[in-house]
Amino acid sequence: MTGKYNIIEEGKARIKVPIESRISRKLPVFYNPVMKFNRDMSVLLLKAVSDKSLRIALPLAGTGVRGIRLLKELRKGKIKQIIINDHSKEAFRIIKSNLRLNKAKACAENLDANALLLKDSGGFDHIDIDPFGTPNPFLNNAVQRLSRNGILAVTATDTSALCGSFENACKRKYWAIPLHNYLMQEAGLRILIRKIQLIASQFDKALTPIFSYSKDHYMRVFLRCKKGKQEVDRILKQHSTFRNAGPMWLGKLWDRKLVKKMLSLCKDETSRKFLNIIYNESAMNKPGFHDIHNLCKTKKIHNIPSFDIIMKKIRNQGNTASRTHFNPNGIRSYISEEKLVRMIK
Ligand SMILES: C[S@@+](CC[C@H](N)C(=O)[O-])C[C@H]1O[C@@H](n2cnc3c(N)ncnc32)[C@H](O)[C@@H]1O
Repeated sequence: MTGKYNIIEEGKARIKVPIESRISRKLPVFYNPVMKFNRDMSVLLLKAVSDKSLRIALPLAGTGVRGIRLLKELRKGKIKQIIINDHSKEAFRIIKSNLRLNKAKACAENLDANALLLKDSGGFDHIDIDPFGTPNPFLNNAVQRLSRNGILAVTATDTSALCGSFENACKRKYWAIPLHNYLMQEAGLRILIRKIQLIASQFDKALTPIFSYSKDHYMRVFLRCKKGKQEVDRILKQHSTFRNAGPMWLGKLWDRKLVKKMLSLCKDETSRKFLNIIYNESAMNKPGFHDIHNLCKTKKIHNIPSFDIIMKKIRNQGNTASRTHFNPNGIRSYISEEKLVRMIK
């Protein structure tokens, strides 16, 4: 193998990674330690669903760390076959080497992601699209290859488009108008979801989000596939505008039972905290939340009560309230802004 490598541990996998300290597209093989959380969530979600004997495709696999973790951390019988692919020659070599290092059995491929997806005639029960930037180039083939009841996972790191720093980029790439305020992450995630659903709808596939979130510099969504025209129509009815932005997905972002199961299986404290917030916010099905700091600023309220006190007051009035993972200053609740302001004052 060319270049210098370190061996690191992540989950139950031991992985050869390039020694370069800066993470960039130019690295021969991409390993981003910050994305360990992203991979932790993948492992946890696939542990939590009851699906068995999965055919899995990882078309943009980098070092292969995600695939190797799935092989080592999921129960026997969960995976029937796993294809770990990357178009880079160096990545392909390191994937094979990492498979040997972990005594893990998978099919390593060295193809363009789209060629890989097109080549395979059968369906995949799980496909993970984890690119640099937008997932757009891979969506068409990924949704076509996704089997009935399959789970598609998508990462998008082009948050400048989705969160409205570049509105025209969002219009071009995601066919929607983004927000660029405290709600931009939630709006961006919902815009991304709608785009994926539109691509799938062409093939009579209805994709429902079962777990989604925004974190650091990326957005992530897992969608469950159902086949059928009526199912697709039901999805499309839930696309609309929100606060002069969109169109976007206004339906549920999470399957609450699944989040509960993930929580019950989660041992890591950081992930538990994150999942707990999501579990609480998944009790409500309404886009948007209140940004308390923003609200107090515009209403010139100087003594802001603690978030716990605000949430207690909301609940005492018979409303549900929760923090939101999208924004540390946010409270998600059905309570109206006027009522909330009166209450804080
Ligand atoms: C963000 S990294 C993947 C990280 C990996 N999934 C993980 O969890 O560690 C993106 C990878 O996609 C590969 N890639 C980019 N464009 C590709 C394409 N068209 N076909 C196949 N692989 C591609 C890059 O070589 C890179 O390794």
